[in-house]
Amino acid sequence: MPRECLLIQVVSGASTEEVRRAYLAADPRADVVELRLDTVKDLDVDRILSARGKPKLVTMRSRRQGGEAAPGDREPVLRRALLAGVEYLDLEFGADDRALLEGAGPRPLRRRSTRLVLSSHDFNGTPAELPERCREMLRVAPAGALVKIVTFADASTDNLRVRDLLRAAAGSDGARRLIAFCMGPKGLPSRILAPVWGSAAIYAPAMGAAPTAPGQIPLEDVCDLYRCDRIGPRTRLLGVLANPVAHSLSPRMHNAALAALDLDYRYLPFEATTLAEFLPLMSELRVAGLSVTIPYKEKILPYLDSLDPVARDVRAVNTVVKTWNRLCGSNTDVEAAIEPLRRRMPLRDREAAVLGAGGAARALVYGLLREGARVTIFNRTEERARELARELGARHRPWRALRGRRFDLLVNATSVGMAPNLDATPVPAAWVAAPVVYDIVYNPPETRFLREARRRGATVIDGVEMFVAQGAAQFRLFTGRDAPVDVMRRTVLEALRGAA
Ligand code: ATR
Repeated sequence: MPRECLLIQVVSGASTEEVRRAYLAADPRADVVELRLDTVKDLDVDRILSARGKPKLVTMRSRRQGGEAAPGDREPVLRRALLAGVEYLDLEFGADDRALLEGAGPRPLRRRSTRLVLSSHDFNGTPAELPERCREMLRVAPAGALVKIVTFADASTDNLRVRDLLRAAAGSDGARRLIAFCMGPKGLPSRILAPVWGSAAIYAPAMGAAPTAPGQIPLEDVCDLYRCDRIGPRTRLLGVLANPVAHSLSPRMHNAALAALDLDYRYLPFEATTLAEFLPLMSELRVAGLSVTIPYKEKILPYLDSLDPVARDVRAVNTVVKTWNRLCGSNTDVEAAIEPLRRRMPLRDREAAVLGAGGAARALVYGLLREGARVTIFNRTEERARELARELGARHRPWRALRGRRFDLLVNATSVGMAPNLDATPVPAAWVAAPVVYDIVYNPPETRFLREARRRGATVIDGVEMFVAQGAAQFRLFTGRDAPVDVMRRTVLEALRGAA
């Protein structure tokens, strides 16, 4: 983190012992540990607070405040925390905690040694009156307190509203008083960029710990994957645009490659419901390059200033590079789909069968035809096979006609067999009669389709090769450098193993 931005590790749990243990095992890189006491069923505050370690932030939210505590249980716990001299105490902005804060009740909840975090959470959206709320919170917050504003990102542009809040709150003395970011998948960029935007803190649970808010990024990823502590004003941003984006492996693969070459870029996950919603974010954050995936590969075409010849031919773009404010679309899928094949066999005049007629099949068929192969398309919905075949100049046959026919190459370009449907396979093992069998599904790396083909003696090619190859070509377009392909492949396989 920039030294002025605290990295707060969030700890929660159902039992006193669980929270105490998690506190004691806090990541050495955390500056502060937030103890979410409202989740604890058998709460023994003193037992938790007596543990010695990192500075503590005690948080006890009621149900109305997005937590789990009954309203009456909060005040005694907060007072105990104050008496114990915890370093930070979270109070919610609003009527419920005003009495505690202003001392309208019996005794105000203050102590000089404890720093208050006056917080406001909006789980339903990012309200229009955010700047006013922020000003009001900064006005009523006691001297030395931090103010925390967290909203749910309904749209990509909510990230920008949070950035503008942080900019407006920046004091002339450089001291940070405001913590702000967005929850939810669309808010991920704000969690990664909050430190460089001037937030006084960011929050992250340990990897594998139960999340306490939507879109949290594990602390290990904050430090090792996004290297948030070393993002500066000159860091160039890249990213993947998808809907949904949560399971994309591209941030892992690209950030590992960027780190391996020590390049000052970060690759972010961007989720958007429409392109119109996303493009202002891309422009404001000066995103220099973008991977584009489902469902935007075709939809993005009208927004681009130029296309490379392959993208123009297949009418699909998976890469956008911004050069002099112009958006240039490329397609690295075609080359990536073909390259693993070309390395193993000559393709000219070979008989290839492609299963599927969607976007992935289109890239494959186009690439195979370009290499001089003879392609037959088989698709569950025959009409789509016919259309694709007509458009690209291939043949097509009914799905069941595959049975009993031999090909030089058989490719699965359908989504069948992809996790979590590990037992699914597009065609029965007995129909697989080709010496080379290729599956574009990369999760799992060995699908049932490939396993059965391997047992029948075929040379098999997995989808990880294509996934890494399209990413490596993007990397070259983004950075002008050759991609560290081994690092990328290893990262993807590790992530897939972790997810299994
Ligand atoms: P993509 O762009 O990733 O290729 P898509 O356009 O949705 O995605 O295409 C998915 C492909 O998988 C299609 O060819 C689809 O067949 P239909 O055209 O009949 O839908 C194919 N597919 C999906 N589920 C299938 C299944 N259970 N059996 C056979 N083919 C399937």
